[in-house]
Order: sequence, then C-alpha cells, then structure tokens
Amino acid sequence: MVNVSLSLGSHSYNVHVGNGALASAGFLVNRARLEGKAALITDSHVAPLYAELVVRSLEDAGYDVSVHTFPAGEQSKNLSTVEKIIGEMAAEGHDRSGFVVALGGGVVGDMAGFIASIYYRGIPFVQIPTTVMAQVDSSVGGKTAVDIPAGKNLIGAFHQPRLVIVDPTSLTTLPPRVLREGMAEMVKHAAIRKPAMLQVLRQLADEIDIGFSLNTIERLPQIMADNISIKARIVEEDEKETLGVRAFLNLGHTLGHGIEASVPYGELLHGEVVSLGLRAALYLSRKHCGLSARAEREILETLEALELPLVLPPNVSIEKALEHTRRDKKFRGGAIRFVLLSAPGSPLLSADVTQQDLEEAMQHLTTPLH
Ligand code: NAD
Ligand code: GLY
Repeated sequence: MVNVSLSLGSHSYNVHVGNGALASAGFLVNRARLEGKAALITDSHVAPLYAELVVRSLEDAGYDVSVHTFPAGEQSKNLSTVEKIIGEMAAEGHDRSGFVVALGGGVVGDMAGFIASIYYRGIPFVQIPTTVMAQVDSSVGGKTAVDIPAGKNLIGAFHQPRLVIVDPTSLTTLPPRVLREGMAEMVKHAAIRKPAMLQVLRQLADEIDIGFSLNTIERLPQIMADNISIKARIVEEDEKETLGVRAFLNLGHTLGHGIEASVPYGELLHGEVVSLGLRAALYLSRKHCGLSARAEREILETLEALELPLVLPPNVSIEKALEHTRRDKKFRGGAIRFVLLSAPGSPLLSADVTQQDLEEAMQHLTTPLH
C-alpha cells in the first residue's frame, strides 16, 4: 500500500493506494476513526462490480451500511438525485453521527461529496474512486458539486474527504475509452509538475489494448500515487483556489470545456476535450511564453500514444465552442486567466491571451498533427 498524505490543518487526510485495497475498505475506514452508520453511494455500473465487496468489508469491520444506487452518467449528477438519496438516507435513519462512502467515478464522488457536505449541515465522507479520472483527480482536493441546467458544477461546496481509498485493479473493468480519457488528466499533471512521468504514461498507453502486464499491474499503485501526489501538493498550496496555484490544474480546460459544451452531451468525453484543450494551450504557450517545439512534441506524442483526440472532429463548430468558452467561469470580468506552460513543469497564469488568440488556437486544432 502506498500512502499520499494531504496536509490541510484540521482536515488533513490520507490517500491509500494499493492493489486489492477495496477489500480492506472497512479496516482503513476504521483506522481513520470514522464512526456511525455508513451510507454507500454508487452508480448502476459500479454497484454490480464492487458494492458487495466494499459492503462486506465495512460490515466485517462492524459498520452498519445502507446502499444508495443511482443510474450511471453525468445526467444523474443533479439536485433531483441529491434529494432522492438524501430522502433514502433519512428513511434509513442516518443522522449526523454517520458518514458517506462514495464508490465510483467522478460523478459519484462529486455528488456523494456534495450530499455529505449538506446532510445535517455536513457529515464526513470517504472517497473510493474507480475511474482513472476519479483516482488521480476528482477524489482528491475536496471539490464537490452537481450540475444545473445553467451549467456544470454550478452548485457545490469545498468538503474534503476524511480518507481516499484507491484500488488500481478496479480500473481493469473500465471500458478502454474511459480508461484512456482519464489518462489525459495524468498527462496534464505530468506536464504541470513532473515531465519525467510522460514516458511512463507512453509505456502504459502501449498496454491498454492488450491488457496491462503483471509487471505493470504491480507498478500501478506507485504510478498512480506519484500522479496523485502532484495534485495533492497543489491542493496543499492553494486549497480554495484563491492564490492562482490550483488554477494550474485548469491547463487545457478553458477551451476544452468550451468544446465539451458545444457538442451533444456524451459525444466527446471530458478527458478527450482536455486532450484537444491541451494541444490548444501548448500552441498558445509556444506563441506567448517560449515553450519549445520539442517540449510541445513530447506532450502531444504522449496524448497521441493514448489515442486521445488532437484534431477537432468536423462536427464541432468553432464559433459555438468559443461562445461557450466566453461563458466559462474562468473568465473574470471578461478577462481570461489562461494557463500556459513556459516549459514542462513550469505553468503560469497569463493575462496576455486575447480572443483572437483563442480563435487562432481553435483553428490550429483543425490542422493535422503531422
Ligand atoms: P463517471 O463517474 O461518469 O464514470 C465513467 C463511466 O465509468 C460511468 O459509466 C461509470 O459508471 C463507469 N465506471 C466507473 N468505474 C468503473 C469501473 N471500475 N469499471 C467499469 N465501469 C466503471 O465519469 P468520470 O470520468 O469518472 O468523472 C467525471 C466527473 O468528474 C464529471 O462530473 C466531472 O465534472 C467530475 N470531475 C470533478 C473533479 C473535481 O475536482 N471534483 C475533477 C475532475 C472531474
Ligand atoms: N480538477 C481541478 C481541481 O480540483 O482544482
């Protein structure tokens, strides 16, 4: 088991990363001194795969557990599902003495975390992420949220988990497309803080289609923990994203979100638009802050090895994507704070990126890579 700790004063916590960790959930939760009844929140894809294992582990450790399953997918990440689950929890007799366990991808983690933040004005919660996206990104850092028709993640709270349990073997049941898209965030983390990791990610990419070798599976906990540590250190520096450091995690996300919002829901996965957004951000980094062609190439080659999209699909309207980008919450009073990379491992927040630049970067995404 590899441990990544987040030092956040009174709400510090550990991320335990280990193959088979799901079966030790009860022991780990107990060791984190969580008490009372557990409300395990999960989705319809994850429940049949892992809920029984985690419930058994919690029960063996002496916890009384209720299970709350909702239909998988971003469409469920809304206030109606929150209200329904909270109603179920109340009916099951949960009160402020218990805690929530989020078992699933980022949708489960964001929504279960939000429920924990408001149920009885806030109860503890445990994250057990089962997608790459959730293991390296969404389960760590305490951002919880649900979507409303006016926009994604518009209602939410900062609520740090008390414990995160990462079992990399749970990734073996992911559809390859979901596995690949999550790795876009790992590439982003590597580009921001640990460029040496890009080579490791290219090696993983080679094995996705044929299945991870035993050797890779054995190395996965350390690889995941190394990547999680990047986010953990950034969150420690700037927990509430007020100092301009946590904002570095938005590399590739400004135009990425614009593209995501401009196509019918689900057509492009989040990590896929992050890949496109990263190519655009690297182009602007070359233009504005001297990123070398070689560094740009290495990051793009890693995304390419992961078979992530780097050229805008023909049905994406640049106009529409830019319109959505302008509405993004990262625009402050009409000005853009755009994350650029002056070199691998050296991000910066730039105020120099103009609307014209954004248009140019989107046009760049229509050109072939080679
Ligand atoms: P997701 O939770 O929808 O999971 C993707 C799909 O994989 C779903 O169908 C899910 O049921 C299925 N699944 C999950 N684990 C599985 C497993 N082990 N085996 C088989 N299938 C499995 O999507 P995601 O990509 O994990 O997360 C996306 C969400 O995360 C978005 O809502 C996004 O806003 C949020 N997010 C939050 C943060 C944050 O800091 N809070 C950061 C990044 C993303
Ligand atoms: N996913 C970006 C953040 O947690 O800040």
